[in-house]
Amino acid sequence: MPVSIVVGLQWGDEGKGKMVDHLAEKAVAVARFSGGANAGHTVEGEGKRFALHLLPSGLVRKDVIGMIGSACVMDPVTILEEIRSLEENGISTKGRLKISSKINLTHPGYKCIEKQSEVNLASEKIGTTGRGIGPTYERKFRRNAIRLDDIINKTTFTSLVDFHTKEAISTLNLGYAEVEKLHSDVAEFIEATREVAGYSDDVSLSISRVLDRGGLVIAEGAQGSLLDPDHGSYPFVTCGQCVSGAACTSLGFGPALVTDVIGILKAYTTRVGSGPFPTELDNETGEKIRRAGHEFGTTTGRPRRCGWLDGMLARYTARINGCTSITLTLLDVLTGFEELQICTGYKGGKFTTGRSMGELVPVYETFSGWTEDIRGETKWENLPEAARAYVLAVEKIVGVSVTSISTGPGRDDVIWR
Ligand code: IMP
Repeated sequence: MPVSIVVGLQWGDEGKGKMVDHLAEKAVAVARFSGGANAGHTVEGEGKRFALHLLPSGLVRKDVIGMIGSACVMDPVTILEEIRSLEENGISTKGRLKISSKINLTHPGYKCIEKQSEVNLASEKIGTTGRGIGPTYERKFRRNAIRLDDIINKTTFTSLVDFHTKEAISTLNLGYAEVEKLHSDVAEFIEATREVAGYSDDVSLSISRVLDRGGLVIAEGAQGSLLDPDHGSYPFVTCGQCVSGAACTSLGFGPALVTDVIGILKAYTTRVGSGPFPTELDNETGEKIRRAGHEFGTTTGRPRRCGWLDGMLARYTARINGCTSITLTLLDVLTGFEELQICTGYKGGKFTTGRSMGELVPVYETFSGWTEDIRGETKWENLPEAARAYVLAVEKIVGVSVTSISTGPGRDDVIWR
């Protein structure tokens, strides 16, 4: 009765969705354990390309159960849009999507409040996805949030929704037209919550039933460990916990059930939004990576900042997650570079993910590049020698085995070593 946890080892967008979909072939259930619709998981399967935000990537496989844990946050309107878009593509979620009844909901007023708070944070603008993620988690820990199971009691639900509508109006000092718009968004929110309540479930119990029958559960993380509010580049982080330990809390199972922690590591580094990025390449090389890797946000469309692989950060995130193996993704994007660099330390031996992270100066090791097209390659021995040397160097620097390599967006574009 194993649980495999899949987490991102950088600042998100490592290609977790594609790998979860690949691994889901053997799974009974895939359960998302953190974040909300701020994530953008791209999955190519069933002959189509899907951009999922909160729905677990495994749902694209028609025989897999999809679950969403209590430590995620949910905008009922956007999740219904996701469900509909899958259904329009012939993938039904009926009877196989289970959303924790304890999940906290994103009231429409939160997005307006978030926009305002980004303006107020002039000196440390986070560059959020604008999905109301922060305000939803804030209210969860303030203990007055709206949870999915509140819909059961009409009076409780109505008074909670009213409270948050009034809070947004008074905090933001909204004008007549904006108040009207908010009221109409709130009406849509209430309607969507009623509909989505049909998927409400005791996720912990459902997981336990799958495990009791010997089935594999994949716990799917979102964002990346460097966006984790405890271990990431604070304060330039998200509010949901992104590290492996959070899977147990969110999905309601004990740590002894975990058999694998698979860290997903991109062969280079990207970041969206503000914050320190020691190996950033704000030059032509960075632009070349962005173009080759189509590095534009799935959720916001923003160009991603690109840079060399930071081996030191990967070593750190592999440790805090307890990774048992690593999947190196997007190796094909690095084809055509004369030389490649990996950060193996920082000048003066300094290391921090706190407010002075921006002062870290990377020290690099240089590797030969390759010119052969490796997209879609599935055999280790077919990789050019320089590509194999690069993978082996990553393994040595990070200190965890690279057991698989993703060489393209397709479900089966994977090398297993
Ligand atoms: P929030 O999650 O919208 O609050 O945004 C906080 C920070 O996390 C911003 O820098 C976002 O760009 C970043 N972020 C959130 N979700 C993702 C993701 O899925 N991939 C990459 N960056 C993300």
